[in-house]
Amino acid sequence: MSEGARWVKVAALDEVPDEGVLAVEVDDDTPIALVRTEGEVFAVRDVCSHAEVRLSEGEVEDGTIECWLHGSCFDLRSGAAINPPATQPVPTYDVKIDGDDVLVSLDEKNS
Ligand code: FES
Repeated sequence: MSEGARWVKVAALDEVPDEGVLAVEVDDDTPIALVRTEGEVFAVRDVCSHAEVRLSEGEVEDGTIECWLHGSCFDLRSGAAINPPATQPVPTYDVKIDGDDVLVSLDEKNS
């Protein structure tokens, strides 16, 4: 985690469904998918790296989120594309839980 990271409250923890996704917009124009799975919350850019569709409309499974359009899965920790047709990663963000608040660092981890 870099020093001086800019943390932004993006949701209340209970708004993020267990084993599901909450789509949020940060800074007016940054779409982020908050994913809660296996007791953790992850944040990834809510745009597939293959085409401009929302990842938040896909399925969450085994630490990944699957793009609903062509089926590429992305690792929620690294953002890596696990299977084609997507080949590029999606940006991921550090997440911090502070009481009932979910905060995201707007410094992309893997850019
Ligand atoms: S748009 Fe996501 S895999 Fe094609």
